[in-house]
Amino acid sequence: MTFPFSPVLTGLAQYPFARLDAWRAEATAKGTDVIDFGVGDPREVTPAFIREALSAGMTEISSYPRAAGLPELRSAIGGWIERRFGVSVDADREIVPTLGSKEAIFSFAQVVTGERRVIAVPEPGYPVYERGALFAGAEVQTIPLRESTGWLPDLDAVENWEELAAFWVCYPNNPTGAVAPLGFYEEIAGRAAEHGFILCSDEAYSELWFDEPPVSALQVADRSHVAVFNTLSKRSSMTGYRSGFVCAPEPVAHALRTYRPSVGTAPQEFVQRASVAAWHDEGHVQDVRGVYRRKREILLPALEAAGMRLAGSEATFFLWLAVDGSSEAYARQLLESGLLVAPGAFFGPAGEGYVRIALVPTQEECERAAKILREVS
Ligand SMILES: Cc1ncc(COP(=O)(O)O)c(C=O)c1O
Repeated sequence: MTFPFSPVLTGLAQYPFARLDAWRAEATAKGTDVIDFGVGDPREVTPAFIREALSAGMTEISSYPRAAGLPELRSAIGGWIERRFGVSVDADREIVPTLGSKEAIFSFAQVVTGERRVIAVPEPGYPVYERGALFAGAEVQTIPLRESTGWLPDLDAVENWEELAAFWVCYPNNPTGAVAPLGFYEEIAGRAAEHGFILCSDEAYSELWFDEPPVSALQVADRSHVAVFNTLSKRSSMTGYRSGFVCAPEPVAHALRTYRPSVGTAPQEFVQRASVAAWHDEGHVQDVRGVYRRKREILLPALEAAGMRLAGSEATFFLWLAVDGSSEAYARQLLESGLLVAPGAFFGPAGEGYVRIALVPTQEECERAAKILREVS
């Protein structure tokens, strides 16, 4: 018996990372000891004070969480935005807590696709912008990112600004690790205000930096058309908690608060209370940056010695490396030595010729991987 499932669903290619799981299983079955640099799921310890805040936040009676979130969480996020970016937002009107940022990214197109039906998405890029747009019945416009332009989109090449409902950008970028200067955000936020679309800035990696803290799209002079998505997943090693936020102009935040109760995506209140503790603390974030920095220092020279070239990677826990030939063939070859990495082509055709390494295995595993790379190079 076959069911007439959504044609969007049946038409989707397999989620690229599901293929990495299959590769890994295949290699393990052959007896290879695999070190997994494939999926960007941090395996760092969630700080004890956050776990304690989670259990302290459990109540005897459990009620449905509200889409607006707890006032103390909105205020903790607003305080963090002010300290980190020097921008003062109206936490009650402009901030909407989310169940991690993925669901909010996915469903955003459902809220904003109306008369304007085009959603612009970067390529290579995180696949969820496109998938969310497709399920919303929107039209996807791919915006190429290239090494020659520092992995920033060429805004002069876009001709249909008036048709856009939303334009997604992601800096520090997954997969390339590139960061965007404030001038870029000013330019695109200016076009958003001029042409009436929403600039959606996915800033999931804003806290994983090495030299200078990256700027936010919230820092532009006119943020009347800017929606920023951020999360505790990477900053506080809390992927399993599912806690993030959208900070958007009041009309957009209001639309989200109207839409979201139908979906039921408000984070659990005990998670919200743990999140308050996490947003208030920077010490653990500094520690986590130190951890990724050490892993980067261990692995990068060995990757370069093996013939790969760093091609971005100013921030995030990703190393984006140019390789010879097909990215998939290169990744398969590395897997023979026990290193699982993501082929750049998994992020779109422009990712061909690159591989992405997520610095999520332990330091000891990174040391072992560096040794393996030196042996094979
Ligand atoms: C670019 C980017 N944005 C958003 C997310 C979503 O993160 P979360 O839903 O855990 O907040 C991820 C997760 O890997 C990501 O890579």
